[in-house]
Amino acid sequence: MKRLPTISQYEIFKNRKRILNNPLPFHNENFEKYGDSFRVRTGVTKTAVITRNPKLIKHILQKQNRKYHKSPLQTVDLAKYIGHGILTSNGKHWRTHRRMVQPAFHKKKLQGLLGTMLNAIHKELNRIKPNKEQDVFPLMGDLAFQVVAKSLFSRSDIQEDMEKLQAITQTNQKMLIREMRQPYLKWWFSVTGMIRKHLDLSQEGQSLLDRIIEERILSGKEKDDLLDMLLKARYEDGSPMVRQQLIDEVLILFTAGHETTSNALSFTLFFLAKNPKAQQIVFEEASQFDSENGDIMKHMLQLTYTKQCIEESMRLYPPAYMIDRVSIEDDEFEDKIIPKNTLILMSVFELHRYRNFWNSPGKFIPERFNSENKKDVHEYYFPFGAGPRMCVGNNFAMYEMILTVAEIIKKYKVHTSLDDLEINPLISLKPKVVPLRFTNR
Ligand code: HEM
Repeated sequence: MKRLPTISQYEIFKNRKRILNNPLPFHNENFEKYGDSFRVRTGVTKTAVITRNPKLIKHILQKQNRKYHKSPLQTVDLAKYIGHGILTSNGKHWRTHRRMVQPAFHKKKLQGLLGTMLNAIHKELNRIKPNKEQDVFPLMGDLAFQVVAKSLFSRSDIQEDMEKLQAITQTNQKMLIREMRQPYLKWWFSVTGMIRKHLDLSQEGQSLLDRIIEERILSGKEKDDLLDMLLKARYEDGSPMVRQQLIDEVLILFTAGHETTSNALSFTLFFLAKNPKAQQIVFEEASQFDSENGDIMKHMLQLTYTKQCIEESMRLYPPAYMIDRVSIEDDEFEDKIIPKNTLILMSVFELHRYRNFWNSPGKFIPERFNSENKKDVHEYYFPFGAGPRMCVGNNFAMYEMILTVAEIIKKYKVHTSLDDLEINPLISLKPKVVPLRFTNR
């Protein structure tokens, strides 16, 4: 790996403004210049490898996953704001809790949540104002947050708390991005008390969740929601999760679960507005979908083209656009040695647009994901990651997105005056604005 072409600190400093704004074009230029992997010097002794090589990505995430951990970007920097739940931990701590959280997301369990999801979706969609152009990104943000909130707590009287939690999550994320993109200002963030202020906010969010959990336990009521499943989960010795762990896992589900989904939904609606033919097919499918009667799961699984549109939108704009790992022992890949402590950033964004694997990579073509064409995509398509740390909420997210898109397109035609999207790669890949106009069908 040391023989890989290396981008100097000077080069990074020269490009710092662009990188701070959006590092993806900088990555692309270097991939074009140097090939599928290169190194960047991030400090006097620090380097990171950036790759779009699908074989290396599978090697790290699947085949040799035990030799790699999540990097301190998540386990330290992110964890200080959202705690040590399964997203932000490694090793035994991660494995133990993943085993406890995962059953809550089994398809059978999710089936019971679909009605709750749909109610939350309908409530949020009432906020659409027909015939007026509006930015759907905040709307989808609220929708996805409410869907996680209702699926966790099945309560409608905690709106104010949820709004507060959402605001805290957003404010802290902005701080984290500044810390990651401007590491040379960390001392400044510290001495001016900015970090302390955000940690206090985080504490406020945790106290709020603590209160909601306490109320549930005191109520003695059983609800078939995600919180209930976490409360019932047991360690091998039969004991339940301690309160702080429970709070951390809940906070992680909010953080990991709402933003990624709202980004993907906003991108998908934009693509449908730009592609009336695709939108028409989604409409024809969705008008057959009766969410009020019968088995929602069975009906939903018939919305195959709607699903393909979402998959294609996540190819072009994967919300988790970079995946990071650090090697915890020496490893080998093909003819290269990967020494212990190598930080590797895997660019899902680049891989999903790599012309070696995709024809007309910049074009929105949902048919790539029909049953005939999608045979090999799992080799170079990773919107939910891969291997044992693959997204625990992937089915939850897909169901929520299919239901939302179908319910919107069934009711409205969507239009946009925007030529192309401007993106905002923060912790997840977001659009800047997505102005859409909805007209009644
Ligand atoms: C479109 C929506 C979503 C996308 C694109 C997405 C993507 C991802 C990716 C790529 C990972 C793996 C990261 C890595 O390997 O470093 C991940 C992990 C995770 N996701 Fe998602 N996610 C989505 C929705 C959700 C939802 C709805 C939930 C929960 C309600 C969720 C909860 C999690 C958790 C807890 C992890 C950590 C799993 C672990 O490390 O064991 N995600 N997600």
